[in-house]
Amino acid sequence: MFSSRLRAGTGRNRLALALEARRKAGLPIVDLTLSNPTRAGFAYPPALLTPLAQKRALGYEPAPFGLPEARQAVANDFARRGVAMLPERIVLTASTSEAYSLLFKLLCDPGDVVLTPRPSYPLVEHLTDLDAVSVLPYGLEFHGAWSIDAGGMREAVARANAERRRVRAIVLVSPNNPTGSVVKPSEAQAVAALAREHDLALIVDEVFVDYPLEKEDACLFPAVDALTFSLGGLSKTVGLPQVKLGWIGVGGPATLVQDAMSRLETISDTYLSVSTPVQVAAADLLREGAVIRAQIHERVRGNLGRLKAVAALHPACSLLSPEGGWYAVAQVPAIESEEAMVLGLLERAGILVHPGYFFDFEREAFLVISLLPEPGIFQSAIERLFGEIGRS
Ligand SMILES: Cc1ncc(COP(=O)(O)O)c(C=O)c1O
Repeated sequence: MFSSRLRAGTGRNRLALALEARRKAGLPIVDLTLSNPTRAGFAYPPALLTPLAQKRALGYEPAPFGLPEARQAVANDFARRGVAMLPERIVLTASTSEAYSLLFKLLCDPGDVVLTPRPSYPLVEHLTDLDAVSVLPYGLEFHGAWSIDAGGMREAVARANAERRRVRAIVLVSPNNPTGSVVKPSEAQAVAALAREHDLALIVDEVFVDYPLEKEDACLFPAVDALTFSLGGLSKTVGLPQVKLGWIGVGGPATLVQDAMSRLETISDTYLSVSTPVQVAAADLLREGAVIRAQIHERVRGNLGRLKAVAALHPACSLLSPEGGWYAVAQVPAIESEEAMVLGLLERAGILVHPGYFFDFEREAFLVISLLPEPGIFQSAIERLFGEIGRS
């Protein structure tokens, strides 16, 4: 009766079951997987969401790409980061996840292939599944710093072509979740050259672009000569995932951009999924939300410093230093499986971390640590975590 887009056997994993049991037993949990900024103790201005209730929001003026003022507000936000993006090239969506879905509909027939980074966060594969798109991974490698396995990416395209599968797009997540790796300008140019060679589009997920952890402008993706879709949204840019506004900025050769926009118009017009209140409020939310962005930025930078200091006391462990984003990855001795390790940490210390295999790390043992928790909680949790790992 049902489609095969939802994978069979997507039951709950052992960590989810252990977590549920611990919650039921009323035992404490320190969540080092936290990704929800609204639960991280930031001081949201009480009137931040007042613009959603403007009188204008009572009227409905359907516009496939979004209301002009909202698209202008997003263009201004690109400009804040030093990126020139015309409002006419901006498509509003309800979220970044939805933006992916619109792009898969634009670019892919069922069974077509998109290249995705590995390790990366699992949401992309759920999104491709739901649009009946296949993924071929390309590697991100860590040799003191993260880089794209460019040869592997090329081989993946060649392999797919040899198998007569059509590759349509390359997904780049920069900064990536969870590695915190940023696509370097030279890598962006090399990927764009591959895209031009094979008529591929680039889907550049930049939701964490506002959170550089090393150099201030390190996260900016350069303009390249290939059809490029830049994805972002309020959920990370101003810490408002519940408000539901994302966007696609379309760049690259003018004729391709035009073709893409006219097709995207049909897709967006079919759903018209972005609410009017969020569109009339977009300019205010992007402007006033800067205070949340600043708090998040200070938090993740501070917690990364704390993590570096604690990790330095445990020479058997090493941090794969992130260049941007909200997460850090620690490599720890693989004396037991990642699954046993994270279950043990939860049971013995009440600390919840994600194992590397959730994100398709090629080997063990890696732990993914969120940098969002409140500093006091974070500090004691990482001290305990590294202490526990040292003991096992
Ligand atoms: C890299 C990345 N892209 C996109 C998303 C989804 O963002 P949104 O809430 O706008 O759908 C997430 C969510 O955590 C993410 O980590």
